[in-house]
Amino acid sequence: MSAFASERVLSVHHWNDTLFSFKTTRDPGLRFENGQFVMIGLMVNGKPLMRAYSIASPNYEEYLEFFSIKVPDGPLTSRLQTIQVGDELLVSRKPTGTLVLSDLKPGKNLYYLSTGTGLAPFMSLIQDPDAYERFEKIILIHGVRTVSELAYAQFIEDQLPKNEYFGDAVREKLIYYPTVTREDFRNQGRLTDLIESGKLFEDIGLPPLNPETDRAMLCGSPAMLEDTCKLLDARGFQVSKRIGMPGDYVIERAFVEK
Ligand code: A2P
Repeated sequence: MSAFASERVLSVHHWNDTLFSFKTTRDPGLRFENGQFVMIGLMVNGKPLMRAYSIASPNYEEYLEFFSIKVPDGPLTSRLQTIQVGDELLVSRKPTGTLVLSDLKPGKNLYYLSTGTGLAPFMSLIQDPDAYERFEKIILIHGVRTVSELAYAQFIEDQLPKNEYFGDAVREKLIYYPTVTREDFRNQGRLTDLIESGKLFEDIGLPPLNPETDRAMLCGSPAMLEDTCKLLDARGFQVSKRIGMPGDYVIERAFVEK
C-alpha cells in the first residue's frame, strides 16, 4: 500500500486573498485524534510534494477539512490554492501531532490559544464532545491581523451552538474570543498582551491563568509560541515534554512555510 491515499476535493472556500479552506474525501481506514496533522500534497513533476496540515474537521466526519494560507511563491500553496472540486489530493496515512487532549492533565478551564492558520487544529477540537465532558469552560482565542482573517467566525458563533448532539455543551462552555491587531475590532491586541494585562480575563469573566485549574493548547507562529510558552512557564505551567506524557499545556507550530 502506498504511503499516501488519493482523495478527491469536495469543496473549496476562499476566505480572502490569503486564506482558503477545502474538504476532501477520507479514506475509511484513516483514524486520527482531534488536533493531529497529516501530510497533504500534490504530484509535481512526477513526485509527491507534501506539507504538514492540521486536520480542521473532527474525527467522526466522513470528510477531511484543511485550512491554508496562500503563499504566492510557495511550492505547494501556489498550486493548492487553484484546486477545484473533483481534483485529486494526496493524504498521508499516518496522522500525528502533539495537540491532543490525552496529553493534558485534568483541569477546569481549557485554553485554545491560536494565531493565523494555527486555528485549524482547534476547529477539530471545538467539535470534540469529549473536550466538553472533561472541562468546565473552553476558551478559544484566535489572534489575527485583520478582520477578514477571522475565518470560521460565523460557523463558531452561529452554527456550532446549534449542533444537534453537543450544541448544549457549546452554549454552556465554549467562549470564543477573536482578536485583531491591525484593524478596529471589538477585541484588539496580541493574545500575549491581553493575558499579561488581564484584559482577556476581565472580558471573559474568568480568573487569570493558574496552573492548578487551567490547561492550554497552543498553535501559532514560532514567535507566538515562544512568547506564549514564556508567559505560561513564568506562571508555573509545565509543558508536556513528549507525546504520551501529559502536562499542563501542549504546543504545535502552525505549519506556514508552504
Ligand atoms: P501583530 O499584528 O502585532 O504582528 P502572523 O500573520 O504574523 O502570524 O500574525 C497573526 C497574529 O499573531 C497577528 O495578530 C500578530 O500580531 C500576532 N502575533 C505575531 N507575533 C506574535 C507573538 N510573538 N505573540 C503573540 N501574537 C503574535
